[in-house]
Amino acid sequence: LAPKPLLGQRVLITAGPTFEAIDPVRGITNLSSGKMGFAVARAAREAGAEVTLVAGPVHLPTPRGVQRIDVSSAREMHAAAVQQAQEAHVFIATAAVADWRPASPAEHKIKKDGSGQVPQLSFVENPDILAGIARSPRARTGELYCVGFAAESENLQANAQAKRARKGVPLLVANIGPATFGRDDNALLLVDEKGVVELPHASKRVLAQQLIAEIARRVAGDVI
Ligand code: C5P
Repeated sequence: LAPKPLLGQRVLITAGPTFEAIDPVRGITNLSSGKMGFAVARAAREAGAEVTLVAGPVHLPTPRGVQRIDVSSAREMHAAAVQQAQEAHVFIATAAVADWRPASPAEHKIKKDGSGQVPQLSFVENPDILAGIARSPRARTGELYCVGFAAESENLQANAQAKRARKGVPLLVANIGPATFGRDDNALLLVDEKGVVELPHASKRVLAQQLIAEIARRVAGDVI
């Protein structure tokens, strides 16, 4: 394998959780650490790519040579990703995007008034960033290669294939094993039209390098 298999390629990555405001001081988020996405960004850069990392609120240093765009909400992540995708050759969606956001966040802090009444929240669905970008003309013609992630716990392979079809992406990567959030290791199952490749248990750093190598081979069109 060439030492820089992604030389000349622009790679876009979303990573981390999103934060959905309830009021100016409260919100809803999830336990994604962003570690896998940041490791993928580093590996893509080391493979020679020009990397843009759209990151939700995480506590991680920016990998060397990577352009980072910090966002908070799913809608901000969506806007940044859609814009960056116009120029990208590969899009890897590792972010744990909130499925829903509070329908109408309060302009001022919601006060506890002592009456025992609790606020009633209602939600609206967030845009599916990956599915949306995968439907874009450049993705459909193969100019932009889209990769999704999934955290499945049962029926891994079948669910991963179903999600690959639902999202309309050529490659879907399933996290194997429970509760990978925040950990430094993982195992991955890569599902594409040809079948399944397993990347056995390893550090996220090593897995990210292996994943980038697998993606580079598919982008170059030499997977048999
Ligand atoms: O549907 P589910 O959330 O399991 O799909 C996971 C994949 O879709 C991940 O690649 C994630 O980054 C992406 N996704 C997204 N926007 C959403 C929800 C998921 O890009 N609103």
